[in-house]
Amino acid sequence: MTARPHAPGSSDRSAPDGDPSGTRTGTDPTAPRPSTRRSGRLVVLASGAGSTLAALLAAHDDPAWGARVVAVVSDRPGAGALDVARSAGVPTAVVAMADFPDRPAWDRALADAVRVFGPDLVVLAGFMRLVGPPLLESYPGRMLNTHPALLPAFPGAHAVRDALAHGVRVTGCSLIVVDAGVDSGPIVAQVPVPVLDDDDEASLHERIKVAERVMLVETVGAVARDGLTIDGRHARVGRPVR
Ligand code: GRF
Repeated sequence: MTARPHAPGSSDRSAPDGDPSGTRTGTDPTAPRPSTRRSGRLVVLASGAGSTLAALLAAHDDPAWGARVVAVVSDRPGAGALDVARSAGVPTAVVAMADFPDRPAWDRALADAVRVFGPDLVVLAGFMRLVGPPLLESYPGRMLNTHPALLPAFPGAHAVRDALAHGVRVTGCSLIVVDAGVDSGPIVAQVPVPVLDDDDEASLHERIKVAERVMLVETVGAVARDGLTIDGRHARVGRPVR
């Protein structure tokens, strides 16, 4: 599924201030529409240590940033990200695959767990599973995923290892709109990171994560403040130009 522009008048809770800006783009019905409007409630999905989540939490007390992490949902009961969230006083939920009879049941439970917190944006920050139709259909164009490579190169769970094995001299990180594919959605932001001669997977990933945290904080804040317009493969922060 390709992320679709958000339809005006649909269940968009993303304008708590009642600002209708961005809901229409003039009278041209074919013009791209913003998939998000001014929106502040973030639910973060995380499976890992939570350093990218920590960067979001470091930003969210500043009202000028424009967003607030209202919950963290993980598929792993032992994820460090849950401790990061608890330390910041942010509610958590765990939806572990092992607790459900099959993948569709887990997909539904994950969507239910996210929905409880009423997000305007869902941010996948080191979430190591594909999300299924219930979540995709609930937040079309309103789910973002950070990935440690310059997509479309090196999608998947071993992006840093694959980039090193390929011998690239530059890799980096990408923030994309989540769609039904594997790291295949429209690209919102990218930052390059040079590969050093003595890099191994761990050292390169650590440098990528430094860039990833800055990219994530800057871009999620901008999307929360100004919206995100998706036109086919093209995602752009802010309102449509036409
Ligand atoms: C990031 O590099 C993310 O892109 C990848 O896992 C890392 C998350 O790290 N999928 P952390 O759990 O936030 O520390």
